[in-house]
Amino acid sequence: MVFQATTSAPVNIACIKYWGKRDTTLILPTNSSLSVTLDQDHLRSTTSSRADPSFTSDRLWLNAKEEIIKDGGRMSTCIKEMKRLRKQLVEDTDPNAPKLSTYHVHIASYNNFPTAAGLASSASGFAALVSSLAALYSLPCPPTTLSLIARQGSGSACRSLQGGFVAWEQGSQPTGLDSHAVQIAPESHWPTLHALICVVNDAKKGTSSTSGMQRTVETSPLLQHRIKNVVPQRMVDISKAILDKDFDAFARITMADSNQFHAVALDTTPPIFYMNDVSRAIIAVVEEYNRVWVEKTGKVKAAYTFDAGPNAVIYTEGENVKEIIEIIVRFFPQQETFKDPFGLFANDGGLKEGGKLIDGFNEAVAKTWELGSVKGLIHTKIGDGPRVLGEEETLLNAEGLPK
Ligand code: DP6
Repeated sequence: MVFQATTSAPVNIACIKYWGKRDTTLILPTNSSLSVTLDQDHLRSTTSSRADPSFTSDRLWLNAKEEIIKDGGRMSTCIKEMKRLRKQLVEDTDPNAPKLSTYHVHIASYNNFPTAAGLASSASGFAALVSSLAALYSLPCPPTTLSLIARQGSGSACRSLQGGFVAWEQGSQPTGLDSHAVQIAPESHWPTLHALICVVNDAKKGTSSTSGMQRTVETSPLLQHRIKNVVPQRMVDISKAILDKDFDAFARITMADSNQFHAVALDTTPPIFYMNDVSRAIIAVVEEYNRVWVEKTGKVKAAYTFDAGPNAVIYTEGENVKEIIEIIVRFFPQQETFKDPFGLFANDGGLKEGGKLIDGFNEAVAKTWELGSVKGLIHTKIGDGPRVLGEEETLLNAEGLPK
């Protein structure tokens, strides 16, 4: 009998940013956060897990390369916690259940997006790890319970166990048992929400989120103001904006929170810069686009947000994506013709440079950047939580090694 399972899990991009831990071992945050889950049809981590009495240790391969599972490290904690849940919830209650918690596991994981693109893979990666072990172990657990474990792999991973709009409630207990993710609304609530990721060329290796946020906790007075006086109200306001499908409110809060996150990075000693000149030019272009629409309708139509790197994610409603891509390509010509997965430019064979601006747009807000400054565009939309895949999708061969 082979005990194995394969699942895939999505990427999430925060609108209210997690930045700072009050407990670095349990990964308990200094503030709540909220994200949008992106569609796995475009970006995903896929993970296969197998438990077998013949295995001599727990082993894990990421994109076919073996990673060392360090004792007491994040991966080892997640695997240990999942085995504990298997024993407690399945084996201790059903004497006939195979004792999978006593077997070692082999785990193979694969990201369908290049790590070199600079897209964070730890959220989807740990969510896929936890969901594949949950499937392997037949755990009768809701995603919120599993989020307690994914959180200990990487904080933001706890928000990738559900689709749609997901809040990570910071909690107050020292055990972390109330620091979990809850779904604010499923993807079906607002299916017209799209995301455009602008992959920005980045020569240098930036400060990791893990070390960067701890330096901010230790040195930034602005962070204290943010966690006490800003984030709590924003969590309330953005949840309401989402439930009302009020894009204008959603976008304004998202942009303000991205900017405050980068402000607390700058307020860190020594300061941390995640955005570069290209990132700032994208902000200028989106702000100008919104200015035109506010003049016409009183409402903004696009929201930028940046994580711990220079890439931009632009949220907008599906009906605006085409004109936004045109504008982005106008200022950031593409090395390779952009072919839209939704067929937006199917008639004209794609878009490479010189996209159209909208009426009233002030061209002087940015220069035309050199080819490849934005080295790729990924157009995707809001999506669902982890999926259990069929046997034929397994990443492990008959011996339990990566294929
Ligand atoms: C800027 O979840 O990568 O993307 O918990 O140390 O693994 P660790 O950090 P991580 O931090 C993500 C920070 C962020 C904001 C966010 O996703 O909320």
